[in-house]
Amino acid sequence: MDLIHKFLNIVFPIVSFILFIYLLPLLSLYRLLRFRVRSVFPENLAEKVVLITGASSGIGEHLAYEYAKLGARLALVARREERLNVVAGKAEAMGSPKVIVIKADVSKIEDCKRFVDQTVDHFGRLDCLINNAGIAIVGLFEEQECITDHTSIMDINFWGSVNATHFALPHLKKSKGRIVVIGSCAGWFVTPKVSVYNASKAAQKSFFETLRLELAPDIGVSIITLGLVDTYIATNEFIHETNLDKAPLLSVEGCAKEIVNSVRRGDESLTEPQWMRTIFLWVMLLPELMNVARRFVNARRGRTRQGHESRSNGSLQQPDVKLALILQLISISGTLQLISISAAVSFSIRDEKSFEAEVISYAYFLISSNAMLPCKRLPLADGVPVIY
Ligand SMILES: NC(=O)c1ccc[n+]([C@@H]2O[C@H](COP(=O)([O-])OP(=O)(O)OC[C@H]3O[C@@H](n4cnc5c(N)ncnc54)[C@H](OP(=O)(O)O)[C@@H]3O)[C@@H](O)[C@H]2O)c1
Repeated sequence: MDLIHKFLNIVFPIVSFILFIYLLPLLSLYRLLRFRVRSVFPENLAEKVVLITGASSGIGEHLAYEYAKLGARLALVARREERLNVVAGKAEAMGSPKVIVIKADVSKIEDCKRFVDQTVDHFGRLDCLINNAGIAIVGLFEEQECITDHTSIMDINFWGSVNATHFALPHLKKSKGRIVVIGSCAGWFVTPKVSVYNASKAAQKSFFETLRLELAPDIGVSIITLGLVDTYIATNEFIHETNLDKAPLLSVEGCAKEIVNSVRRGDESLTEPQWMRTIFLWVMLLPELMNVARRFVNARRGRTRQGHESRSNGSLQQPDVKLALILQLISISGTLQLISISAAVSFSIRDEKSFEAEVISYAYFLISSNAMLPCKRLPLADGVPVIY
């Protein structure tokens, strides 16, 4: 068995790489055509029934306004009923034929059943469930005195959307409807001090990607991945605490518009702002560099830890820091090789004679980068291992 894996370790990346070169342009063309066609014929939302969780403020509130402008009937869910009533009034004034307000806590399974049932009892159908309700708690994991304080993040962000979806499925199947998930780039581009929030968004993404496969073609699943949006969650305190105070915020109105346009086109996913998609490539191809950058941004945290550790352990392990940095640089140079060889291979497609030579050099890259793997597994100074 091990022999098969050794064989696949060499052959599979090479074959995949060659296939990517041929398939990516074709797939991009298909995506562009599909985008154009769907933009011309978007879904008509008039009289459709849309249930939005977390509609009392922020993104959920503005999604309600966008759906209202398009004539959808709305069920708005959150814990602050008086805020929901204000949103409902505005949504009706903007063009929604009917809006109902349901006070509920998505982390309670009985509440999830109740708000789905109440929506269907009232409107007789459900066309779209928007899993938006969410919270974030900021702080270093090791400084949390009571870890159970954080279970509410998972209960609301992850289980809240799973439970609501469970009860909505039979109705969405009947209407051939859609589930919309308001996720976050934090699910794959992690920053310190929001570890459980990051994990909740990663879990949410993984769950709904699986569901998309299980439910197709009866129910569509749109996963929205957002950067920082100008709402309560991204208050100054949150941004300051996570050292992201220089990051640009998306306007909540613009963000809600983009989400509704994307859902009407039937897109499976949307990342806003779009440039965040490029960060995904950085994380995938240059993880060491991204780690160094994030540790640098989080330098204040480093100083706190340094003071803390010097009191408890006497001194920091400086040689480990230097060693780790040198190893990071070696790994980065390996990744740069990948980029240069990728470019060389794509150029050589035009000249078939040199193609074989490029494949051999790619194999060389794989062998040399695998040789670096033991280095990558060495722990950094503060005991956080860098493993990719
Ligand atoms: N803002 C950002 O930068 C950003 C970035 C990426 C992703 N997101 C995601 O966007 C979603 C909406 O957040 P937001 O930015 O609009 O923040 P927000 O203004 O704080 O809105 C959060 C909403 O969730 C509701 N909610 C919280 N806990 C709830 C519970 N247990 N049951 C029912 N409703 C609950 C809140 O209403 P009540 O308090 O009245 O219950 C509120 O309406 C979240 O899932 C968040 O993770 C936000």
